[in-house]
Amino acid sequence: MSRNAMEDVWRDVWNLTRGLERAESTDVLLACFFSNLPRGGIVVLIVGLNSSPNQDGLTASVLKQVLAGAEAAGAETVLVHMKERTLEACRQCDNGWGQCRQEHTCVIEDDFQALREQLHAADALVFANPVYFGELSEVAKTFLDRLRRCEAFEEGPLTGNLFLGIAAAGGSGGGIVSCQQVLERYCQHMRMKLFDMIPVTRLTREYKLESAYLAGAALAKALAASSPSPTG
Ligand SMILES: Cc1cc2nc3c(=O)[nH]c(=O)nc-3n(C[C@H](O)[C@H](O)[C@H](O)COP(=O)(O)O)c2cc1C
Repeated sequence: MSRNAMEDVWRDVWNLTRGLERAESTDVLLACFFSNLPRGGIVVLIVGLNSSPNQDGLTASVLKQVLAGAEAAGAETVLVHMKERTLEACRQCDNGWGQCRQEHTCVIEDDFQALREQLHAADALVFANPVYFGELSEVAKTFLDRLRRCEAFEEGPLTGNLFLGIAAAGGSGGGIVSCQQVLERYCQHMRMKLFDMIPVTRLTREYKLESAYLAGAALAKALAASSPSPTG
């Protein structure tokens, strides 16, 4: 059965039995489902998060190229536009530490947990960020702050996963380096392995799109090479 046919069946079964209407919920399930496929195939799953409000802007276009390159190299990919998710800022529970430190979960009931599970099911994260004031976008910071609190204190599903950051500075290009530093620090705190960082400005867009495609293919190949063989 083809992947598309399997996806259709999986969606139908889930929607019929549980009555779920939100596409993102089935996306999470699909991510979990395909992440469990044997690697002999070789199926690796890469999640791309777009933290720009623009779905077709500079940030998203570089991200899409990375994912296209990864797919061409055999990876499965999922693209999430974070603007479509409901993500509250951290409440800094108690005196600054809440259950995130001991229980590694967040008290806020929004789309954070589903997105986190989507990352857990993946082999790599491509995080695309528009440079705002030399830093992360607001939705990026909101999500990464809460993720860091839940993930930083013990090894977990993200430990050792590859991370590819994209910093798109579409204005003057200023602040692109500080933004990458922030992304690098988050990657370290979340115990992920930095695979690459792609800075892009309006002036470098064309050739960065080409290199983004190559980076995606290289990421998929690196994941496949590090996956266990079918015979173990
Ligand atoms: C609030 C805000 C702050 C920004 N700060 C910077 C900046 O520090 N440096 C820069 O080069 N561009 C800056 N820009 C421009 C964004 O980087 C640019 O809009 C973004 O890269 C375009 O990505 P998009 O097409 O995905 O929206 C800023 C834009 C906004 C909205």
